[in-house]
Amino acid sequence: MKRFLSIDDVTDPVALLNLARELKENPYGQKNLGGNKTMGLVFFNSSLRTRMSTTKAAQNLGMEVLTLDVTSDSWMLEFGEGVKMDADKAEHIKEAAAVMGTYCDILAIRSFPSLVDRDKDYREIVLEAFAKYANVPVINMESATGHPLQALADWMTIEELKQKSRPKVVLSWAPHIKALPQAVPNSFVQWLSLADVDLTITHPRGLELEPKFVGNTRVEYTQKSALEDADFVYVKNWSSYHDYGKVVNDPDWMISSEKLSVTNDANVMHCLPVRRNIVIADDVLDSSRSVVIQQAGNREFAAQAVIKSILDEL
Ligand code: CP
Repeated sequence: MKRFLSIDDVTDPVALLNLARELKENPYGQKNLGGNKTMGLVFFNSSLRTRMSTTKAAQNLGMEVLTLDVTSDSWMLEFGEGVKMDADKAEHIKEAAAVMGTYCDILAIRSFPSLVDRDKDYREIVLEAFAKYANVPVINMESATGHPLQALADWMTIEELKQKSRPKVVLSWAPHIKALPQAVPNSFVQWLSLADVDLTITHPRGLELEPKFVGNTRVEYTQKSALEDADFVYVKNWSSYHDYGKVVNDPDWMISSEKLSVTNDANVMHCLPVRRNIVIADDVLDSSRSVVIQQAGNREFAAQAVIKSILDEL
């Protein structure tokens, strides 16, 4: 693999999924593959899981890891072309990315959207700039519009837990107090559309995702109908794509045990972090239905599969 910005960079997603599952069985079997190679993790935003799982994944393959928190530890970066840099931004991405590429064999980037300017966010300016100027392969650790490492781990978790060949999977919007990106649901729908699952999205009207990601996936506006007979319920908030960044906080959409009574004893998934009793009730997160820890654990092997696939072609 040459880079991992989105699913479009993956020739065979099923093979990548199978590799992640194989690596989980034997994480340290490829310890020499990344010898004398360095992974750079560059964060423009906070992270717990992505930071730790990607670090661990690279170390499992024998790589050294350098981590940079851009907003606290580095110069503010300019991304504009032809800008007279007479304000607060001290370094241009053209130099910054190229310099990072001299220290690192692979760069992984986390950069969330503004949720103010949709066109700018959906052009993926930060991720694309690193891909253009770093001169090394770039991995998306959650960008403005996608979180493919999360989606691969999500798919892996469903494959591990499914009790039937074609489970019903429901992506349910849930309330939140803040404007959150569409990156996780975008990628979840995009990747799970390739899986042998019966996929439904449910959300209030007005919270439709970008049509490119939804494709032919069924959308049901009544949460209760959508949840009927579900084997997996993936819970996630996102802010409006059409009224860009608008927060909807409808408490009737929170996932509780009572809501799940119409499901097929569904496993409940969430990418984390999750606000308890806003997004999902305690009685779900503290029950055996919740598979969020297994899901987060699989982030390590999703990342390891991606890094290994890139190292194989360096
Ligand atoms: N799910 C996820 O990406 O978690 P972090 O934001 O903690 O990395």
